[in-house]
Amino acid sequence: DWTPANIVEDSVEAIRAQVGDGRVICGLSGGVDSAVAAALVQKAVGDQLTCVFVDHGLLRKGEAEQVERDFVAATGVDLLVVDAAETFLAALDGVTDPETKRKIIGREFIRSFEGAARQVVGAHADEEAGVEFLVQGTLYPDVVESGGGEGAANIKSHHNVGGLPDDLQFALVEPLRALFKDEVRAVGEQLGLPAEIVWRQPFPGPGLGIRIIGAVTRERLEILRDADAIARTELTAAGLDRDIWQFPVVLLADVRSVGVQGDGRTYGHPIVLRPVTSDDAMTADWGRLPYDLLEKVSTRITNEVRAVNRVVVDITSKPPGTIEWE
Ligand code: XMP
Repeated sequence: DWTPANIVEDSVEAIRAQVGDGRVICGLSGGVDSAVAAALVQKAVGDQLTCVFVDHGLLRKGEAEQVERDFVAATGVDLLVVDAAETFLAALDGVTDPETKRKIIGREFIRSFEGAARQVVGAHADEEAGVEFLVQGTLYPDVVESGGGEGAANIKSHHNVGGLPDDLQFALVEPLRALFKDEVRAVGEQLGLPAEIVWRQPFPGPGLGIRIIGAVTRERLEILRDADAIARTELTAAGLDRDIWQFPVVLLADVRSVGVQGDGRTYGHPIVLRPVTSDDAMTADWGRLPYDLLEKVSTRITNEVRAVNRVVVDITSKPPGTIEWE
């Protein structure tokens, strides 16, 4: 029967059979799917695997460290980190349109990943096998959605790398193809991955870039990161992580309102809390968070995050509102 231990054992065998002596590359996003896929491949073929983490500078507080430090400690993977924050910020300079932001982030992500992949390929160019395989964290629902063609690269979102250039053609290794999300999490726990990764709520590939309404700057990212960390910490402290599907925190960077903080008048930015419940993100209801939790989050954010003097709650369902603001 299907226990996490059995799933691990079977996939390790299948990966070894597919990969043989070949070299494998895997992109990590900070999310659970790519982490579990990478950990399975690592268990199967160990040092034949190189992971690539493109840090686009749009992750939340602590997430880059979770990949670079905690995931590496838990699995022992060989990790190539691309610190691309400057590149992404420069490319996003002054851009406010949501779709343009997404396109830029997607394009830069693929560029950065390609650069790193070339580096890995180059490092093993003298070996007979070379780098032949690319790991993808495709889940069963993705397979069904995309028609289930064997090896069909899923390019639904930017961090699923697809459409690579000719000199970077790999066979896909997709160890999660038969699994649902809850099984992926169970496998992640079985493999000893950090709980923050295994239980991470969905987070969009474009990251905080689409949670700053207005142009993305380093300062604005800092503000949003601090506010978001407070909201997440308090949600966890209230024991509600698994009752809430997702809890976006949004910075209205081009909006200001008057407030009084400390000794005087302020003219700061609003933060929007967007807790939602959902089964699949296709539809969602606004999350009824307890008033005392909302009060705590509001008080802490306005006390601890300078530049924010107002906290509002989004009580729109999907439809008509989407989960993200952009
Ligand atoms: P919306 O905002 O359309 O979001 O209700 C539905 C779900 O998708 C996530 N999302 C994304 N995920 N790349 C991703 O990987 C994206 O570009 C993207 N945009 C939205 C969103 O967080 C929610 O879970």
